[in-house]
Amino acid sequence: NNNKITVICANILDFVDDPAIAGDNAHRYFEKGALVIQNGKVVNLGYEQDILPSLDKSATIIRHDGKLVMPGMIDTHIHLPQTEMVGAYGEQLLSWLTEYAFPTEKKFTCEHYSKDISNRFLDELLRNGTTTALVFGTVHTQSVDAFFNESQKRNLRMIAGKVMMDRNCPDDLSDCAQTSYDQSKALIEKWHNVDRLSYAVTPRFAPTSTPEQLQKCTQLLEEYPDTYLHTHLSENKDECEWVKGLFPEAEDYLGVYEQAKMVRKRSVFAHSIHLSERELCCLADNNAAISHCPTSNLFLGSGLLNLKRCEEHGINVGMGTDVGAGTSFSMLQTGNEAYKIQQLQGQRFSAFKGMYLATLGGARALDLEGTIGNFAIGCEADFIVMDYAATSFLKFRIGHAKTLHEQLFAMMMLGDDRCIEQTYIMGKSVYKRDAKEQFSTT
Ligand code: GUN
Ligand code: ZN
Repeated sequence: NNNKITVICANILDFVDDPAIAGDNAHRYFEKGALVIQNGKVVNLGYEQDILPSLDKSATIIRHDGKLVMPGMIDTHIHLPQTEMVGAYGEQLLSWLTEYAFPTEKKFTCEHYSKDISNRFLDELLRNGTTTALVFGTVHTQSVDAFFNESQKRNLRMIAGKVMMDRNCPDDLSDCAQTSYDQSKALIEKWHNVDRLSYAVTPRFAPTSTPEQLQKCTQLLEEYPDTYLHTHLSENKDECEWVKGLFPEAEDYLGVYEQAKMVRKRSVFAHSIHLSERELCCLADNNAAISHCPTSNLFLGSGLLNLKRCEEHGINVGMGTDVGAGTSFSMLQTGNEAYKIQQLQGQRFSAFKGMYLATLGGARALDLEGTIGNFAIGCEADFIVMDYAATSFLKFRIGHAKTLHEQLFAMMMLGDDRCIEQTYIMGKSVYKRDAKEQFSTT
């Protein structure tokens, strides 16, 4: 019976604002808290002692005493097809694309492969506590069909799109302006707003699209205003120079997308590292979002995002793993590297900021606040149970942490998928960490 009430008892943490702006008022922490769920949605949150006495006797109580419950993590930029090539050695962006990314993406002509990788990928997201992601497919429609099919079976909130690219790429990964429009449109009609799925119009990045193709993106976004726009922006210095040469009439890199009316709410620009003042203002004024991808930016040597400038401009920022240029599916590890990127610029980055970006920040970047990202009443109950004692060393280390922030920060530095004990989707447990695996990896 779906109307039944479930109560999760644990230490519960979520965010209602950005800690860089609201300080300690940004998070809510209920030690010995209770999260009340009905029909897969949050109906109440508070302290156990206040909530339990008022509950109907038929309510199911699930205890995760001593564990930390947080909203599911949100990965705002990741590539499904690059799952099997994470950590490919030794290149910066443009040669990495031709050497490693493109050859792997060619495999998605095969439907079985698309389905297998989709399941491996979704398993890995859930094992890492990521419950929603904004996902690049390949140029092949079957990559997105397979991904949405498998996501739908698992009742996940996922956003994805077929890559559009019609130049500067291998012939067998190239579409053309018209076919990319037709195929994207068919996928939108088939999947957008079906169950928990949404479609993202996905031109790879300016260098791999002709102006005609970008015009087709614009047309799709105008015909389907609530779809997303998902692309890359200003990741690597050579890439930025290349864009200047390809689009001499544009003011700057973002100007290419702006001319095509692609800078808007529900537009997510991965990386966005080397931006001018004008570009930052343009993102802010148009309510577009940045996906910050720390592990990828360090792995490819792309550069250091200045988060403080994003905060000053009021730009929505989420975090992305950017697997496979990113080196981990874990948003904890992504937060770890985000911290170091700010350190190198002499700027602070707390565990609260990291966990905010991984949850509510991501929801805001995806225009999904009120649906996912925290435990506000009415939100979908996608959440994770985190274990501070996942390994004997973590247990020892975090035993020496005195405050919530010290505990969280140590978990962000040392933790990874091993800290995710359970993942719940719409109030139902869909992943439980295997204790045997736990000991073999400690
Ligand atoms: N820019 C264009 N395509 C890609 C990609 O696949 N990965 C990254 N990191 N940057 C890109
Ligand atoms: Zn990417």
